[in-house]
Amino acid sequence: MQNIITTLKKLFYLWRRSQVPVKQSIKISKIDNLIIFLVCILISIISSYKLLLISPLNIADIFSWFLTFTEVLISSGVLILVSKKENPTISSRQIFLIITLLLAVQVTKLALASTISPLSMIIPPALIISQGMGSMTALAWVSIASLIWPDPEIVINNNLFFILLVCASIVSLLGGRIRSRAQLLQLSIFVPIGSFLSQWILISKDKISLINNQNFVSSYGDIFSDSLVLAIAMLFTILFIPIFESIFGLLTKARLLELADKEKPLIRRLSLEAPGTFEHTLLICGLAEEATRMIGGDIDLIKTGALYHDVGKLHAPNWFIENQDGSKNPHDELDDPIKSAEVLQAHVDEGLKFARKNRLPKLIANFIPEHQGTLKMGYFFQKAKEKNLDINENYFRYKGPIPQSKETAILMLADGCEAALRAMNINASDKEALKTISNIIYSREKDGQLDDSNLSKGEIFLIKRAFLNVWKRIRHRRIQYPTSKNNTFS
Ligand SMILES: [Fe+2]
Ligand SMILES: [Fe+2]
Repeated sequence: MQNIITTLKKLFYLWRRSQVPVKQSIKISKIDNLIIFLVCILISIISSYKLLLISPLNIADIFSWFLTFTEVLISSGVLILVSKKENPTISSRQIFLIITLLLAVQVTKLALASTISPLSMIIPPALIISQGMGSMTALAWVSIASLIWPDPEIVINNNLFFILLVCASIVSLLGGRIRSRAQLLQLSIFVPIGSFLSQWILISKDKISLINNQNFVSSYGDIFSDSLVLAIAMLFTILFIPIFESIFGLLTKARLLELADKEKPLIRRLSLEAPGTFEHTLLICGLAEEATRMIGGDIDLIKTGALYHDVGKLHAPNWFIENQDGSKNPHDELDDPIKSAEVLQAHVDEGLKFARKNRLPKLIANFIPEHQGTLKMGYFFQKAKEKNLDINENYFRYKGPIPQSKETAILMLADGCEAALRAMNINASDKEALKTISNIIYSREKDGQLDDSNLSKGEIFLIKRAFLNVWKRIRHRRIQYPTSKNNTFS
């Protein structure tokens, strides 16, 4: 009996460790909520009002209208919930984009349902949503946009409906993963070709009109022009995605990779003017990438965020130890711990200025203050305490905020472990390295720095293992290989 209780306790402890702390989603202002709600009502009205245009109108018709109205309203709500679940930091502008695209599609269906193929109406917006907000949101959007048709007289051919769902799902799933504009172009060519072939095989031979009162596709030529319109619509969408990125603050994979290019002027400046910081940044990228892969986070986001996290040090590179090269330390000459703490805080404030000047997306700029959180500048605090025992600790804490996402929290932990791992003795055992990593992570955890990050205990455990793996790689790189006179080329 005792054994069963102990086992159950252990299982309960492991289950608790794996749970993610409850986190409140980002707050949206009342005005924004009201506007979003009104747009949802508008979508519901547009999607259902035709049911009321029947004469004579009886109770059953009104009931059926009410059902459709409520169904669309609830579906829009579910869509918003899915988008919030997939993107915890989603802004009201981005929610507005999702529901406005739904509104636009419903209006287009009313106006052009008999002339434009449903594929051309639904697939291009699905591409925008999957690129900016992820595959799950795009799939939820596609299911609502495909199922709700405002005109009850329009009945879509089952085969076309099937092709629509398959093509839109492929675009939604691939769109969320595609990492370059070239791959997007390939998608905009292959999806229309695929839709053309599948329509040719499944529909054209039936000679059944796609929309009951129109000869929508009655010959091969029409199928071809449908697919051509789809290809053109997708190409235009790809052209306009950068505009959507800047208006709605979307962060696509392609944009992230463009920003991660080390030839970007700001990163080039960092490598030339603050080489020590640049080296520190590269090592942190490795640590953070490995940890994010381990917990299944957004690797492209953290790699790019890590690259820019310390750009603020460009304002005074030689005030940071990694750039001092054994020369004089300006902090010693200053001999004022409070002023030194201000210089350290300035790397965050100046970093945010650099981010604004270089139009870095908000999700990337967030790494700049959040990687420091409200950490204590221990060294200068101790120095100040030597002079004045009653000194206020708040002068020596970064202004925050503490990490608000898993990715920024991982970067904070990587930032803390980097110097310690770099300085560690090459002969140190894995156990010693893990102990050092655990101590650094525990001190940040205890300080409340990870409270808003949504990291579970299980994920923190995985992060420690990931950092240890990187340390093993660093150690391996530092091992000197024996060289001989005859073996100088290998
Ligand atoms: Fe920093
Ligand atoms: Fe750093």
